[in-house]
Amino acid sequence: MREVEVQGVRLGAVGLGTWQFGSFEWGYGDRYAGGEAATIVARALELGVNLFDSAEIYAFGRSERILGSALGPNRSRAFIATKVFPVLPLPAIVRWRAHASARRLGVDAIDLYQVHWPSPLVPDATLMAGLRSLLEDGTIRHAGLSNYSVERWRKSEQALGRPLLSNQVPFSLAAPNAAADQVPYAEANDRLVIAYSPLGQGFLAGTYSAGRRPPDRLRRINPRFSTGSLERAKGLLAALTEIAARHSASAAQVALAWVIRHPNTVAIPGARTVAQLEANAAAADLELDGEEFQRLTRESAAYAGG
Ligand SMILES: NC(=O)c1ccc[n+]([C@@H]2O[C@H](COP(=O)([O-])OP(=O)(O)OC[C@H]3O[C@@H](n4cnc5c(N)ncnc54)[C@H](OP(=O)(O)O)[C@@H]3O)[C@@H](O)[C@H]2O)c1
Repeated sequence: MREVEVQGVRLGAVGLGTWQFGSFEWGYGDRYAGGEAATIVARALELGVNLFDSAEIYAFGRSERILGSALGPNRSRAFIATKVFPVLPLPAIVRWRAHASARRLGVDAIDLYQVHWPSPLVPDATLMAGLRSLLEDGTIRHAGLSNYSVERWRKSEQALGRPLLSNQVPFSLAAPNAAADQVPYAEANDRLVIAYSPLGQGFLAGTYSAGRRPPDRLRRINPRFSTGSLERAKGLLAALTEIAARHSASAAQVALAWVIRHPNTVAIPGARTVAQLEANAAAADLELDGEEFQRLTRESAAYAGG
C-alpha cells in the first residue's frame, strides 16, 4: 500500500475509521459489532492498513474495546489513533480519560491522541498542558487535533511548545474545503491531514438516490442525502462513475483516490463489510491522472459551492 510519512511516522494512505463499531447511529447492529468488525480489522492488517481511528465517544467506549480486542497480539503492527471529547478538558481530566482509553484499547501507549473538537469554554493552553504531560510520561506517542481551524492548530502548537502531528477534518469531494488551507499547512510544515468521512458517509459511492435513501437515521437526517443535494451532485457522481469505469474501479475508490492524491493526507473510511474494506484499501494504489483529478475538483466545487 502507498504510504505517507510525516515526522518519521509512516502510515498507509488509507486507514480504517471505527465510528461504526458498535455505534447505534449507524444501525449496523450487534452482529456487525460482535463479528464483522473484528474480521474487518484483521483483513485491514493483512492488506497493509496500519492507521486505525477510534474515539472515546464512539459507542461510549465500545468502539475502542472492539478495536483493541480485534488487534490483540497484532497491536504492534497498528498505529492506533483515538480522541478525547473535550468536556471540561482540565489537565487531570484529560490524563484520566487517556488512561481509560488506553485500558479499553488494551495498550500501554496510544500512538495518536487527538482532541475531538475545539473546546468552546476551556482555553487550548489548558488542554495542551494535559497533552504535554501525557507525551512526557509516554502515555501517548503523538498528539493531534480534530475539527480545528488552521489558525487554532498553529496557536495550539505554540501553547504545546512542539508540533502537533495531525488535524482530522472532514475532507472529500463532497466537502473539499480542507484542500485550500489544511493541506497547504500540513505540506509546508511536515504535518498530517487525516481526512474523515472521505466518502461523504457513503454519498460518493453512488449507492443512494432520491428513490433509495440510507436506512439509518444518522444519514436520513443529513441534508447531504436530501433530494436537492442528490440532484446537485449528479455531475459529480457521473464524473466518478465515468472515471471509475476507466480504471475498472468503483466510484467509492475514485473518491478516495482523489482525497489521498493531496500531499500529506491520509483517509480513514469506515466500512460496513470486509468487501468494502478491501475496496478501500485497494484505492490507495489507484492513480488518477491530472485531467481526471482536475475534472473531479471542478465537479466537487460546483457541488459544494451550489
Ligand atoms: N473527527 C470527527 O469529528 C469525525 C467525524 C466523522 C467521522 N470520523 C472518523 O472518520 C471515519 C470515516 O468517516 P464516516 O464513517 O463518517 O464516513 P465515510 O468513511 O465517508 O463513509 C463510511 C460509509 O460509507 C460506506 N462505504 C464504505 N466503503 C464503501 C465502499 N467501498 N463502497 C461503497 N460504500 C462504502 C459504508 O456505508 P453503507 O454501506 O451503509 O452505505 C460506510 O459505513 C469514522 O469511522 C471515524 O473514525 C471522525
